[in-house]
Amino acid sequence: MSSLRGKRIILAVTGSIAAYKAVQLASDLYKAGALVDTILTAEALRFVQPLSFAAITHRLVASDLWTPDPGGGVLHVELAAAADALLVAPATAHTIARLALGLADDLLGCIALSTRAPLLVAPAMESHMYQHPTTQQHLATLRERGAVVIEPGVGHLASGASGVGRLAEPAEILGYLAATLGRTGDLAGRHLVVTAGGTREPIDPVRFISNRSSGKQGYALAEAARDRGARVTLVSSAELPPPVAVQVVRVETAQQMLEAVQAACRDADALLMAAAVADYRVAHPATEKLKKGAAPLTLELVENPDILASVRGPFVRVGFAAETSDLLANAGAKLRAKGLDLIVANDVSARDAGFGVETNRVTLLDASGAEELPLLSKREVAERVLDRVVRLLAERRA
Ligand code: CTP
Repeated sequence: MSSLRGKRIILAVTGSIAAYKAVQLASDLYKAGALVDTILTAEALRFVQPLSFAAITHRLVASDLWTPDPGGGVLHVELAAAADALLVAPATAHTIARLALGLADDLLGCIALSTRAPLLVAPAMESHMYQHPTTQQHLATLRERGAVVIEPGVGHLASGASGVGRLAEPAEILGYLAATLGRTGDLAGRHLVVTAGGTREPIDPVRFISNRSSGKQGYALAEAARDRGARVTLVSSAELPPPVAVQVVRVETAQQMLEAVQAACRDADALLMAAAVADYRVAHPATEKLKKGAAPLTLELVENPDILASVRGPFVRVGFAAETSDLLANAGAKLRAKGLDLIVANDVSARDAGFGVETNRVTLLDASGAEELPLLSKREVAERVLDRVVRLLAERRA
């Protein structure tokens, strides 16, 4: 499942050496289900061939403003009207300047002025060109007009130098695109707080107690909520790359997670506790690394606060129950004990569901009963959970 499925994306490629990366980007967009029409500027044609894009996207690739429209209209007008987003990647300093000034001297310039679809710009160039006040001013102009600027990364550049100016990675660009297209989704205007990962409870400065939670289900929830228009705060103890356009608060321990969740929930519409919070912590973590000795080591454990049970509020509260036996009875008991609106129960003893893997098989449980879902990707599980959250929010409003 992808929020890019069926979306009309104009991928505009301009004359940067990073143009070759746009081929991968076109492929990723295609695989995500997007309908990609490619525009190559005259300078882009020096680096890449139209055939590379046509073979991947199976759709229009054009460079010339005077290319006839396959439907008999005017090409730039038709493309502009049908587009869901205009993505310029890579965007050179020259193209950024042309977009900021509104120059309509080629196909891209005409589409940019004709379309009302959101504009996303992913710059790629040498550091000095990128950092030049002229380029920065043009980018500021585009941002002021509502464009999304996907910041370039830092690293090796075509000149051999190292610095800022590398085209953002395709996954990041797709993330921004999905977030932009989802701005008017069914969670627009909502603030969702999502937790993810297993907390780490220190034993000494180098060791900790934790669990097998990877954080993937929580991250899938955060991304899905973002792509449905929500503002998302992700309180995470997981070692995963931060999702774009999501506010990530990094924590380690249950106590830190409690404080971060309390702070984030002040204006939340929903809290989704996908994190596997350690129930116990070491009472007195050592300040120096423990050395092994002759005697057996005994750690005194004390109970951690129950975050979900203690953070109450007018917002929707969703729990997750990872069980190895008596799934529904255990999850139902947690639903009632913690006063939750919904609990997502999964049997983590199955090899294709739960910790670490890409899929999950869950049962959604609320006061009215249980809905057993089939084996789904974690993203699909996230969408089904969010469908319930949307419903719960609508009921509250009513
Ligand atoms: N949870 C929490 N704080 C804790 C423990 C759990 O907020 N200290 C949350 C989890 O994030 C999850 C839900 O409570 O959403 C259920 O977690 P789980 O560990 O399955 O339940 P526990 O109540 O800790 O019960 P047990 O570990 O005994 O099964």
